[in-house]
Amino acid sequence: MNNIPQNEPDRQNYYRNELSGFIQKQEQLLNRKLTCHIATFGCQMNARDSEKLLGILKAAGFQETEEETAADLVVMNTCTVRDNANKRIYGRLGVLKSFRKSNQHMRIAMCGCMMQEPSVIEKIKKSYPYVDLIFGTHNIYKLAELLFTMYSEDRQVIEILKQADRIVEDLPVERKYPFKSGVNIMFGCDNFCSYCIVPYVRGRERSRKSEEILCEIRKLADSGVREIMLLGQNVNSYGKGLDEKIDFAGLLKETAKIDGIERIRFMTSHPKDLSDDLITVMEENEKVCLHLHLPLQSGSSRILKLMNRKYDKEQYLALTEKIRSRMPSIAITTDIIVGFPTETKEDVDETLDVIRKVRFDNAFTFIYSKRTGTPAANMEQVDEAFVKEQFDRVLQLVQETSKEMTGRFVGETVKVLAEEVNEQDPSLLTGRMEQNFVVHFPGDPSMIGQILSVKLLSCKGFYYIGEPV
Ligand code: SAH
Ligand code: SF4
Ligand code: F3S
Repeated sequence: MNNIPQNEPDRQNYYRNELSGFIQKQEQLLNRKLTCHIATFGCQMNARDSEKLLGILKAAGFQETEEETAADLVVMNTCTVRDNANKRIYGRLGVLKSFRKSNQHMRIAMCGCMMQEPSVIEKIKKSYPYVDLIFGTHNIYKLAELLFTMYSEDRQVIEILKQADRIVEDLPVERKYPFKSGVNIMFGCDNFCSYCIVPYVRGRERSRKSEEILCEIRKLADSGVREIMLLGQNVNSYGKGLDEKIDFAGLLKETAKIDGIERIRFMTSHPKDLSDDLITVMEENEKVCLHLHLPLQSGSSRILKLMNRKYDKEQYLALTEKIRSRMPSIAITTDIIVGFPTETKEDVDETLDVIRKVRFDNAFTFIYSKRTGTPAANMEQVDEAFVKEQFDRVLQLVQETSKEMTGRFVGETVKVLAEEVNEQDPSLLTGRMEQNFVVHFPGDPSMIGQILSVKLLSCKGFYYIGEPV
């Protein structure tokens, strides 16, 4: 056993081989393939992590299946940003219990943000002891090693790291779409918004070296990727802590130089760090999509202060005005929380005022969810029925505004990336404009992955009907 490599990624390559040997033996024994299913909850970070997990599993010999309850290995990549995410996950775990019992080969693995909370691990140990493998957000690169231990020692394995010990590059990845891909540019978050659990479960902010990122994107471009989404909890602070002198605007400029990449998106921007340089790069560079997701959270300066967001209502309004005046066709989308501790009707009026002034192209509205361990959990909570009323007021205005905003491109001919066959009508394709609006138009599957010119004929609420020109 002393020939196990200590360095990464060699160590994981070694374990992937070992696991692969085990899987082959199982296949011969069972006379069938071993199947796996990954259930992904939460944000783009988790979606990207799941592609990495699937890459490792497929390289080791698993075959992916859509049928969760029939899989030999179910991986649940969890989210804990709001309590309803946790509830859904416990529900799914409950459903799997009987299947785990009747299929002696089934194994259940859980990973992702929820696993970084000690109370969750206690609860799983106590109430869901049939979970076979638990790991966290900092050691997904070790999946092959952890699985090999689980199978070869035939026991439950739990490994949670409090902090990332390294960023491991060059592991296999299985992409969901051949023509577009997410790319992590940073991990973790240091902002500690007072309601948010992400900094506790994703750890400190760490940027990847620009050469690693650009090298990954070049490889993606060579393999046919046309659109990339640069991912981070706060992409605008990219570069902090690196030896090289680079910021997010600089990284975008370098990314745009890569041949083959035609569209660049990014998520998420924090208003406090959005630089003039970034606006200039967006303005000057055709490849950078005119879409900005700029979470507002609240329009009340008092609440923003309690949230530790580090900007106020006026600063947010000034920023969005500047962006719209320099790029009139940009789409600005946002996240809003209703029911933050101590929030009053007057605070919500301020949020409505910002929605009216900025006219968001789309907004995700959330009811505040108390997360244990965050500062806001110790503040004075608001009555549930009152929150529901306020939430409805916000939702209604958001829907009215975004419907009006979506319609503003009718009659124009725009570039659309054809992404898939329309689910309801197979004679149509569904794609996205650079502003991220959805367009349905006649086409055949051979056009998927191409960027086409489409005339927008009509707007049906939140999407367009178009025709290729
Ligand atoms: N890093 C991103 C957001 C990540 S979480 C940013 O700063 O914008 C995605 C969204 O979930 C947040 O924008 C926020 O609106 C919402 N959210 C986070 N914690 C929440 C909580 N405790 N209750 C309700 N919504 C929450
Ligand atoms: Fe959470 Fe704030 Fe970090 Fe976003 S910036 S992940 S809301 S702490
Ligand atoms: Fe959820 Fe983790 Fe993303 S808590 S929103 S999956 S970073």
